[in-house]
Amino acid sequence: MQIFHSIQGLRQSLLQLRRQGKRIGFVPTMGNLHDAHIELVKRAQQTNDIVVCSIFVNGLQFGLNEDWDKYPRTFEDDCARLRAVGCDFLFHPDDNEMYPNGLDTQTRVICPTMTDVLCGASRPGHFEGVTTVVTKLFNIVQPDEAVFGIKDFQQLAVIRRMVEDLCMPVEITAAPIHREADGLAMSSRNGYLTAEERPRCNQLNRSLSWVVTQIEAGNRDFPALEAEAKSQIEQAGFKVDYVTVCNSKTLELAAEDDQQITVLGAMYTSHARLIDNISLT
Ligand code: PAJ
Repeated sequence: MQIFHSIQGLRQSLLQLRRQGKRIGFVPTMGNLHDAHIELVKRAQQTNDIVVCSIFVNGLQFGLNEDWDKYPRTFEDDCARLRAVGCDFLFHPDDNEMYPNGLDTQTRVICPTMTDVLCGASRPGHFEGVTTVVTKLFNIVQPDEAVFGIKDFQQLAVIRRMVEDLCMPVEITAAPIHREADGLAMSSRNGYLTAEERPRCNQLNRSLSWVVTQIEAGNRDFPALEAEAKSQIEQAGFKVDYVTVCNSKTLELAAEDDQQITVLGAMYTSHARLIDNISLT
């Protein structure tokens, strides 16, 4: 695996490959790679000649009181995992390479409305940081295809919308949520969970699954289902951020006759905020 720290070095190598007609797949990450990230790389390998993974803990998408400084940085382990799966290129820029003028970068990509709700409501500025850095990464890598996890459902929906609205020449592929045996969605932030609370943390997934079962059984009283799911999560000892039944495409509150529905949730553990979602099939 070739590792690049500079935009110029990566661009030069990719340009040659592109001229040879190679198809380039891209998996952006913030590192601390776990099995779910590796699944994204495998997915990208299926349909591309060359796979580029990026590791960059993007300060622009973290709020002032969030975990940017303590976000786990495990570069050597990440490299070993990427080598083991046969990833071709790793892009690992430092802050100065990505933001030479600092984080108060003048030009930003915003996708309002869709980012005001759900996670965006409790993390102001977060999605603006995501869309801005993903645009920069797309401009650097110029991939044919980029793979994102459904675990971050709102992020995926916002990126799809951004690509559509701005005519970005990249195919967006969604990879399924990778879970621990008890249903907890894998996340770099699961490392923040205490041994005491860890066994209860799959409650988010259990309550979202319960809502899905109810809807499938014909119960379309979404506010009542959301309220009951929230109370289940609180009874398990967690503070709820939201449980919302949404239209899968627009992320607006689902209407009773909507066909494409996703149930999304977020809750706080003692040191982490966890998210999950399930789409009705
Ligand atoms: P990060 O949290 O490192 O996630 C990188 C990619 O892995 C995202 O597409 C995310 O949805 C996916 N992923 C993480 N856990 C997953 C799971 N359990 N199942 C399936 N996919 C999973 O998301 C980001 O980084 C950043 O916001 C980024 C897009 C890199 C921009 O900075």
